[in-house]
Amino acid sequence: MESLLVTGGCGFIGSNFIRFLFHEAGFRGRVVNLDKLTYAGNPENLADVARDFPDRYVFVRADICDRATVAAALARFAVDTICHFAAESHVDRSIVAPDAFIRTNVEGTFVLLEAARERASGLRRFHHVSTDEVYGSLGPEGFFTEESPYRPNSPYAASKAASDHLVRAYHRTYGLPVTVSNCSNNYGPFQFPEKLIPLMILHAAAGKPLPVYGRGLNVRDWLHVEDHCRAIWLILERGRTGEVYNVGGRCERTNLETVERICDLLDEMRPDGRLAPRRRLIRFVTDRPGHDLRYAIDCGKIERELGWAPRESFDSGLRKTIAWYLEHRAWVERVQSGEYRRWMERHYGV
Ligand code: NAD
Ligand code: TYD
Repeated sequence: MESLLVTGGCGFIGSNFIRFLFHEAGFRGRVVNLDKLTYAGNPENLADVARDFPDRYVFVRADICDRATVAAALARFAVDTICHFAAESHVDRSIVAPDAFIRTNVEGTFVLLEAARERASGLRRFHHVSTDEVYGSLGPEGFFTEESPYRPNSPYAASKAASDHLVRAYHRTYGLPVTVSNCSNNYGPFQFPEKLIPLMILHAAAGKPLPVYGRGLNVRDWLHVEDHCRAIWLILERGRTGEVYNVGGRCERTNLETVERICDLLDEMRPDGRLAPRRRLIRFVTDRPGHDLRYAIDCGKIERELGWAPRESFDSGLRKTIAWYLEHRAWVERVQSGEYRRWMERHYGV
């Protein structure tokens, strides 16, 4: 691996992955980060990498749907590996306005696959980063495996499912050297505060209401983003071509448990007599339509084949994440302007 194209590298997981490549993975090659910079993409997330590795980090502002630009970037930087993160990623937005999800997640993946096919001889791997949401919803028992049927329930999940199918087809039909990972919910630094954990941290810190959908009984399987990055790196290095790997935290929590834990940790880490106990800020609000009840991943395959296991416990990961958001006020204030404010007004009426 000498020249690695990362799509969506200015987003939450992509930026953590690029930092991981330079600081943890022992990667010696060049990273080309191709990102359109939607509301969720922030080049500030990688300012340190751009400063510290000017010879080995390149940023290209482009849309993955722009075939000529994508093809030119693959050729110009002699890309031998692609790691595809770029996507519209927020379920609630996909319910309000699905168009961008179909365009970026389905058409964008198609364009990238076509560009990769043209370069096929120089390409050692196309890794597609996907989600467990493609499998739909579990009842109280059982786990998603790599063999679980696809039953997506939100426009976001359906668009990711479609992209997974395209990736699979390009392997079966054209022999493209693909791998796919389907991961559970991530949390950690640099996550855009529209998602549950950073939204609740920032609201609880500020004494604002905490909007929990329905009765808060939906279950998510939480994984710290660094554990996800390590899984993707292992798959790129040693994963078998044509294979799918499920990645999960073995860490199921109801949303209410997660929000209550955030409240308790903030009461401890940022004591405030006027707000404590912060659990009082919880408000049960109208449920999300089509809201999946439970996600839980069986990650036995990646554990057995690649020796991966999550390292971060939920409690220590949550503490670190809360500390990060409290320490990065300027980052938070910058992403909370403009488009973010409009979304909060439209979606939550605040
Ligand atoms: P994110 O929304 O934080 O970042 C997405 C990035 O993609 C942004 O930098 C954005 O500018 C870029 N982008 C969007 N449309 C683009 C386009 N047309 N062309 C080029 N760049 C574009 O998302 P994330 O949470 O970091 O998720 C990254 C990937 O991981 C996604 O494919 C998502 O489906 C998958 N995933 C996320 C989670 C999670 O919990 N966040 C879990 C499993 C899988
Ligand atoms: P989210 O972070 O949007 O991830 P996903 O929908 O991809 O799992 O939401 C995680 C869970 O938290 C999900 O069950 C919906 C719920 N949720 C709330 O209860 N309130 C909120 O304000 C948000 C954003 C999410």
